[in-house]
This record gives sequence, C-alpha cells and structure tokens, in this order.
Amino acid sequence: MPREVHVVDHPLVQHKLSIMRRKETSTGSFRRLLREISMLLGYEVTRDMPVSLERIETPLMPMDAPVLDGKKVVIVSIMRAGDGIRDGMLEILPSARVGHIGLFRDPETLQPVEYFFKMPSDMEDRDVIVCDPMLATGNSAVAAIERIKKLGPRSIKFVCLLAAPEGVATLHDAHPDVALYTPAIDERLNDHGYILPGLGDAGDRLFGTK
Ligand code: URA
Repeated sequence: MPREVHVVDHPLVQHKLSIMRRKETSTGSFRRLLREISMLLGYEVTRDMPVSLERIETPLMPMDAPVLDGKKVVIVSIMRAGDGIRDGMLEILPSARVGHIGLFRDPETLQPVEYFFKMPSDMEDRDVIVCDPMLATGNSAVAAIERIKKLGPRSIKFVCLLAAPEGVATLHDAHPDVALYTPAIDERLNDHGYILPGLGDAGDRLFGTK
C-alpha cells in the first residue's frame, strides 16, 4: 500500500509557516497566512486531478482545451480549525462541494468524539480533500476518514499545516491509501498531544479564543 507523504517544501509555504509559528503573530495575520498557505497546498494536492479535452472557441479559432474532469471535488473541514484551510482551498476550487465534521478531543483519552457530520448527498465517485491544520495524534484524522469512507468516495487525501511523526504513523497504519500533504513534519508530541515545536493551538490562534 502506498502510504504517500508529500512534504510541500516550496519556499513561499515554508516562509509563511515560519511566521505562523511565531508566538507574537497576531490572530489577523495567522488567519491570512493560513488562507494563503492553503491556496498553495491546494495547488499541490490537485496536481494530479484528471482533465479531459473540451472543444472551445477562442476569439481566433476552435481548439481542444483541457478542463477538469468528473464530479466536483469535496473539501471536508474537521471543525473548527479545518475551516481555515477550507477557506483557502475554496479560493482556488470555488465550485467545490464542502463537508464538515465536528470532532473534539477528549482531554483525558485524546480520543475524538463526534458532534457534527454533514456531507454532500452524492459522495460516490468524488475526490475528497480532508483538511485539519494539525495532524497530532492522528486520532481525529483516522476517525474522520473512517466516516467518510463509508460514503464511498473515489479518493481521499489529507491536508494539514503541521504533522507529528506519531500522527503520520497513526494515519497511515489505519488508512495507507490516503495521501498526506503537509509543509512540515515536526519533532514529536508533548504529553498533552500538542506538536513540538509546533505553533500552539491552531483553533485558538485562528479564531483568537485564547
Ligand atoms: N491541535 C493543535 O491545535 N495544536 C497541536 O499542537 C496539536 C493539536
């Protein structure tokens, strides 16, 4: 099985991530940078999207031009921090369908508990991009993907801003077929399941709730 990991090492992505990590970066800047970085990640994650040729007319002559093929992509946000990536992705995929999964981490067990699940009705044959900024323990990602797989999509990819080695292993032990896209894989998790060196709590930093 593939266990694909794409570390997006483009200098623009790396620079923006470094600013996001700094503790003095404001909520407004963090939000704007997450949107920008998500557009760049969206560019990478859609690189192998299928295209077909469509007959069009330019002002000068007809031609066979490439257009995206098949059903619209589904962007799935793992709430609430995933909403930041969702918004950037929607800038470059404005017609994408959008699903949401609400999961919170039980602070004792670090296991995900579901409180919301809403997907487009026709998920068969669609390509799904699951978004969550922090792939930490990987438990939420695994649970979210398990739920989505039951709806029979054609493919699932996972996009985050930062991953821990533990999260990458957990994700791929459970779902080796899901390709991972991340700008960086950090050192490790701390005892509370936070990524080190990381950037802190992505949801709090995105929404200014701390
Ligand atoms: N969730 C976060 O927001 N930050 C981490 O470091 C880990 C999980």
